Amino acid sequence: MFEHLTDQPADKILALMSAYKADPRDDKIDLGVGVYKDAEGRTPIMRAVKTAEARLLETQDTKSYTALAGDPAFADAMIELVLGDTLPRDRVAAVATPGGTGAVRQAFEMIGMASPEATIWVSDPTWPNHLSILKHLDAKTRNYRYFDSETRSVDMAGMMADLAEAKPGDVVLLHGCCHNPTGANPSPEQWDEIVATLKARHLVPMIDLAYQGFGDGLDADAAATRLIAGALDEVIIAASCSKNFGIYRERTGILMAIGRDVPQTRKAQGTLAYLNRQNYSFPPDHGARVVTTILTDAELRADWQAELEEVRTGMLRLREALASELKRLSNSDRFDFLAQHRGMFSRLGAAPEQVARLRDDHGIYMVGDSRMNIAGLNDRTIPVLAQAIIDVGV
Ligand code: LMR
Repeated sequence: MFEHLTDQPADKILALMSAYKADPRDDKIDLGVGVYKDAEGRTPIMRAVKTAEARLLETQDTKSYTALAGDPAFADAMIELVLGDTLPRDRVAAVATPGGTGAVRQAFEMIGMASPEATIWVSDPTWPNHLSILKHLDAKTRNYRYFDSETRSVDMAGMMADLAEAKPGDVVLLHGCCHNPTGANPSPEQWDEIVATLKARHLVPMIDLAYQGFGDGLDADAAATRLIAGALDEVIIAASCSKNFGIYRERTGILMAIGRDVPQTRKAQGTLAYLNRQNYSFPPDHGARVVTTILTDAELRADWQAELEEVRTGMLRLREALASELKRLSNSDRFDFLAQHRGMFSRLGAAPEQVARLRDDHGIYMVGDSRMNIAGLNDRTIPVLAQAIIDVGV
């Protein structure tokens, strides 16, 4: 039977990871996959995670199954982290998932079950795996314009014009903060406009929140999600703990579905638990339990927040340093957008040939659409990257 299988296209982010590993140059610079790295290039285990794991090792007395939806305490803690007190708890269905990607996948499947006719609108560009999963599920999708490649900011007029073609009941996939891959995010006023459009056109928002705490802070990064959750009857949220807790390989995420009333929310809860059972039965528990331990212990939570804040402000400092070095070298302000973008990524706006030259001639790896992981930089590599950007003519 396997002779009928065809070669699958390589995921471009993961392929870049392998190409970087295989490059023998000592001075190579990795701005590819979205993994946080400190100034020494390490992805450290956060202090609070280590403490929570030690505590679990001491106190955990069983590895028996949890529940299909995962540990209820994890859902409560994550709903509070993401939504604050926006909604009563019984309006939010929630299941633990294997990472944010697991939540995205389950969300698309639930949409397919609930509303097979709905079109899912995705930003152009979006995270490539959104498109790949949607294609795999044979979902109906359309793009909405999002990024103005001249100003490197949100193309609000294009977005609104495209969403004006969405039909009631269509789903609009939004990045709650720190847009991946562009780094360009709507302003608070623009979010108000987006919410008004969603409401007026009876659209269902699905929010991918993978970088809460990496942009303007934990609450600020959840502000758009909370605004939408408070304003719309039905909202889907896929949240990841991979980045803000630094527990990538533990596969820890959550899918929330806000229903218009309690009975409909219960239906969503049952469907999400059913989907977990069909796809992998019980969701992974270790990372979820670490997150719950941290979020429910005042001291651990404060320590986690402090470390996350160091990570966030460190990336902001790198952004500012890169923008200012490029201002000096180019004698212009055309790279100022780098300091205005938020999160791990910025789309530089380099042509594919320039991205290839950065890789081949300078050993600098970024995704083909010129997405750079800002956390891959440090004080030593910023001038090197800036000079290379000028040399290849961006
Ligand atoms: C990324 O966009 O680089 C990350 O979300 C990692 C991934 O799985 O692609």
